[in-house]
Amino acid sequence: MLGAIVVVAENGAIGYNGGLLCHLPADLKHFKEVTMGCPIIMGRRTFESLPKGALPGRKNVVVTHNASFHADNVTVCHSVDEAMAATADAERRFVLGGAQLYASTIHCIDELFLTLLHADFPEADTFFPTIDFSEWEEVSREAHSADERNPFDYTFLHLKRR
Ligand SMILES: NC(=O)c1ccc[n+]([C@@H]2O[C@H](COP(=O)([O-])OP(=O)(O)OC[C@H]3O[C@@H](n4cnc5c(N)ncnc54)[C@H](OP(=O)(O)O)[C@@H]3O)[C@@H](O)[C@H]2O)c1
Repeated sequence: MLGAIVVVAENGAIGYNGGLLCHLPADLKHFKEVTMGCPIIMGRRTFESLPKGALPGRKNVVVTHNASFHADNVTVCHSVDEAMAATADAERRFVLGGAQLYASTIHCIDELFLTLLHADFPEADTFFPTIDFSEWEEVSREAHSADERNPFDYTFLHLKRR
C-alpha cells in the first residue's frame, strides 16, 4: 500500500519559502502515529527542511538527482522508480512530499492522509496536486477546533482510492 501524507490548506497550499505553512503540534503527533515503522519517501528539499535530519523509527528515502548527496540514516535514490523499488518490501509506505514528489507519484497513491487546514495562505508558493474527490472514498474524518497550541481549525481526513 502506497500512501501520501500531507497538510494542505483550503487553497491547496502546502509550503512557503522551503518550509511548512504553520506549526501545528497536533499534526506532528498524528503524522508520527500514522507513519511510525513505515518507510517514508521524500524529495531532497523536504529532507533538507527537517530540523533534525532523518526521522527516527522509519526508513528515510530521499530522492535527488545529485549523485554525491549523502546524509546520516538516509537511503539515497536517484529516481522515483528507484525509491519505489527500495521500499517495495514494505506492506505500507508513505510519500512525504514535497510538491514535486506528490506530483510525480499521485497517480499510483492508494491512500491519502490529508490534514485539511481551514485557513488560506495567500503567500504560499508550493501546492498539492489537484485531486478529484470522486475518485476517493472516505475512510475516516476527524474535525478539530483551534486551541491554544494549534492556531487553526483542522480536519484529519483518510481517503482510499475507489
Ligand atoms: N504540507 C506538507 O505536508 C508538506 C510536506 C512536505 C513538504 N512540504 C513543503 O514542500 C516544499 C518542498 O517541496 P518541493 O516541491 O519544493 O521539493 P521536494 O519535492 O521536497 O524536493 C524536490 C527535489 O527532489 C528531487 N527530485 C524530485 N523529483 C526527482 C526525480 N524524479 N528524480 C530525482 N530527484 C528528484 C530533486 O532534488 P535535487 O535538486 O537534489 O536533484 C528536487 O529538487 C517545502 O516548502 C516543504 O516545507 C509540505
